Amino acid sequence: MSSASPEPPRNATEAAPKKGHGTEPCTRHPRKGLPAAPARGTLSAAAAAGEADPRPRARSSPASEGAGLRGAWRARAAATPSKMAASVLAASCRAGVGCRGQRPLLRLRGLCRGASCSSAGGKTHFGFQTVSEAEKGAKVYKIFENVAKKYDLMNDSMSLGIHRVWKDILLRQMNPYPGTQLLDAAGGTGDIAFRFIDYVRSRWEYQVRQKLRSHQNLSWQEITSLYQEEEHGSLGGSHVVVCDINKEMLKIGKQKSQQLGYSDEGLSWVLGNAEELPFNDDSFDIYTIAFGIRNVTHIDQALQEAFRVLKPGGRFLCLEFSQVNNSLISSLYDLYSFQVIPVLGEVIAGDWKAYQYLVESIRNFPTQETFKEMIEDAGFLKVDYQNLGSGIVAIHSGFKL
Ligand SMILES: C[S@@+](CC[C@H](N)C(=O)[O-])C[C@H]1O[C@@H](n2cnc3c(N)ncnc32)[C@H](O)[C@@H]1O
Repeated sequence: MSSASPEPPRNATEAAPKKGHGTEPCTRHPRKGLPAAPARGTLSAAAAAGEADPRPRARSSPASEGAGLRGAWRARAAATPSKMAASVLAASCRAGVGCRGQRPLLRLRGLCRGASCSSAGGKTHFGFQTVSEAEKGAKVYKIFENVAKKYDLMNDSMSLGIHRVWKDILLRQMNPYPGTQLLDAAGGTGDIAFRFIDYVRSRWEYQVRQKLRSHQNLSWQEITSLYQEEEHGSLGGSHVVVCDINKEMLKIGKQKSQQLGYSDEGLSWVLGNAEELPFNDDSFDIYTIAFGIRNVTHIDQALQEAFRVLKPGGRFLCLEFSQVNNSLISSLYDLYSFQVIPVLGEVIAGDWKAYQYLVESIRNFPTQETFKEMIEDAGFLKVDYQNLGSGIVAIHSGFKL
């Protein structure tokens, strides 16, 4: 993998020019049905004018939301959640719901792949509800817009801080070196990006120290100047782009970045849809998506986009909730998910429905093996996964070779 910087985004709304990021928009892949991407300097203005907003828009107002929902939810919660998920999927399949936009191989396999499943008529799943694709996008947007301010607090409370360990494990698997160009899709409030910066910085510092130690005869002036050089580029040319569809999540992420003392070096925030990434082909060494792909309407399209923007040799890494493979843990986990998490959501974030969606969407997500096949269908090779916590989450990895 080379350490060259990625090409500029082709339709980003918040792409602060950074070292190594050019100014030419991508012309090779104009977005379907949208005007050509504005040049980088015009992006913020375009966003302010309401253009190039990647937010999915609902064609109609959500019909199934309302006062009765919580009561219906409580009734549902009494049933075995996995049975519920299965029955929703079975009902969808009985209703003729197919899988839209998938490659022939996938269609041949004849599999209805959970959350990615959507019909020719544009129906898909939003948790356990069947909604139009546009509705799903709008509902997911609303959820993260509403919870953005409490998102990090909720993550810590719900997972008792374990999400931090999972994210650290993702970084260890990634093992980025100074110079790595990372795209963190659905990057939200920047957790992966901050870990990436810390990891690369400590690796770079180690390399500089080793270099200095290997030169026994340096004068003190030379040592000082080498350390000063290090200060000017403490990441060795690495860069991470946090790309998310939700303005509020990005806003909180940027605030957090300032509070935590991250500078703009090696970090940019781009508003964009994982299904139509605003970046040129072959731009990044690594693509990550943590707890994001479940929320995307067309998972197959997001995977194809990941493949497109990675350089040859680049790596795809996905951290996502998955299917628990231990029956005792599964029962306890279901109990906790369906009985406790929505309550925490209500108490901490004032949003029961958002966290009800969270637990339902996890049950709708494809199994580890099915998701692995989907990643392969997008063109990735050497696809594998590692279960964490008996499959509560899994890290899928694949290479563009
Ligand atoms: C559960 S959060 C994960 C945030 C972050 N990756 C983390 O691990 O904390 C899911 C994120 O996916 C984003 N998202 C949902 N659909 C998206 C899409 N189509 N394209 C890009 N981001 C999307 C949401 O806005 C939200 O920030």
